[in-house]
Amino acid sequence: MSAIFWHDELPSTMSEAARLAASGAPHGTVVAARRQTAGQGRHGKRWASEADAGLYFTQIMRLKAAVPDLPVVTLALGLAVAEALTAVSGLPMDIRWPNDILLRERKVSGILTQFEEGAVLAGIGVNLNQRAFPEELESIATSLWMASGWDYEPAKVLEEILGKIELHIGLLDREGRGPILRLFEQSSSYAMGRRVEVDMGGRVVRGVTHGLDESGFLRLRKEDGMYELVLAGGVRPWL
Ligand code: BTN
Repeated sequence: MSAIFWHDELPSTMSEAARLAASGAPHGTVVAARRQTAGQGRHGKRWASEADAGLYFTQIMRLKAAVPDLPVVTLALGLAVAEALTAVSGLPMDIRWPNDILLRERKVSGILTQFEEGAVLAGIGVNLNQRAFPEELESIATSLWMASGWDYEPAKVLEEILGKIELHIGLLDREGRGPILRLFEQSSSYAMGRRVEVDMGGRVVRGVTHGLDESGFLRLRKEDGMYELVLAGGVRPWL
């Protein structure tokens, strides 16, 4: 059982988890907040974190997996969250490589993975009960409530996600990368045959996805027939 530290409010569960990791908190420790005042998204973006509208937490993971396995850890976290959200809502989830969880093509959950203080910090945000989003997010974000009409209890969703993380990280630790890579390819509509464009640090590359390599990076077959590996996020449909 993981120790779970709930807070009414934090700037970000990432910074509190980093502080706990630095003071030796064990594998599995969870920091969760009802509200974040400075929620962090990927690529320096903010993560909207109103009270009780969503689930906001970071789990400290001290893994046997070596640093080169981190991209696969990221995929395993995405699989865990997608499965957990389907389990609590009955709704089908998609995963946009590496680990944006999509519901009806819109983002319902995001994962921020950082390596700090010798531990992996897995920061997970889930949109649960939002009735609407600010205009700039309206066309790209959704919540479980918007798709189902039900309210969700953050602590219950947290419990389901933690169980699935244990399962998937356990699988990676016991059996290596292969099973996670295969599961990801089965679970993500972005893994194979999807026309996408990717912002590679200012250079936009377009192509059709062609599975994952053995490290968990996304293979892209470009218009000129050449292959390129996508090493970081920023993948979007190329219409
Ligand atoms: C993304 O941009 O897709 C990742 C979003 C991650 C948000 C979560 S909410 C809990 C944890 N604390 C943060 O400040 N960020 C992560």
